[in-house]
Amino acid sequence: MSNVYPSSHPLVGHKLTKLRDSATKPKKFRELVREIAALLTYEATLDLKTLPKMVETPMGTAEGIELAERVGLVPILRAGLGMVEGVWELIPNAEVWHIGLYRDEETLQPVEYYNKLPVAPTVDVCLVLDPMLATGGSAVATVDILKRWGARRIKFVGILAAPEGIAALQEAHPDVNIHIGAVDSHLNDIGYIVPGLGDAGDRQFGTG
Ligand code: PRP
Ligand code: URA
Repeated sequence: MSNVYPSSHPLVGHKLTKLRDSATKPKKFRELVREIAALLTYEATLDLKTLPKMVETPMGTAEGIELAERVGLVPILRAGLGMVEGVWELIPNAEVWHIGLYRDEETLQPVEYYNKLPVAPTVDVCLVLDPMLATGGSAVATVDILKRWGARRIKFVGILAAPEGIAALQEAHPDVNIHIGAVDSHLNDIGYIVPGLGDAGDRQFGTG
């Protein structure tokens, strides 16, 4: 699991426990998704390239840095949407390119329904945002789309993963680092993560 980075941060674990709780209502659930996304992004962006930059303080000149890479956020609709605000709190200039996919309930295969990527990549690093990495089908399909588009550096940022989803994404795209809140036990027979948190889209949008 060399390219898998499960968070060991106590704040992530604390918030994830509240997120999993079936008593957590959509308003609180959305707040937690936003906060966990920010914490995971802090960890996932450790290797962003920077350039030196001098800055005048009230007391003199300081040697600082500025980001040298343009970051693009790629939330997978619907559930990935809730992660965007959290990442924007840290990277307010990040472009957001939505990819619409849903899992066919019978086959568990991803079905694409929305993609408005521009002709050529406009960013250096793409963060694919989706709370759930279950079979991995949606993440693999999204990275396929981004690579066909020409994206070179892609990272997956998610909240919960099943070992099956990690294996699928690693097999298809070994170059994509996986930053995740926690890795759970397994998938059940209808493709849900156990113990997981249920349906991340329904719990955010109150549609369950
Ligand atoms: C959920 C989730 C992922 C996908 C994960 O979305 O947000 O996109 O399932 O499953 P996979 O790893 O097996 O592909 P869903 O298809 O339920 O759509 P929604 O977000 O619109 O509810
Ligand atoms: N999608 C979800 O929202 N939850 C799961 O457990 C699996 C896929």
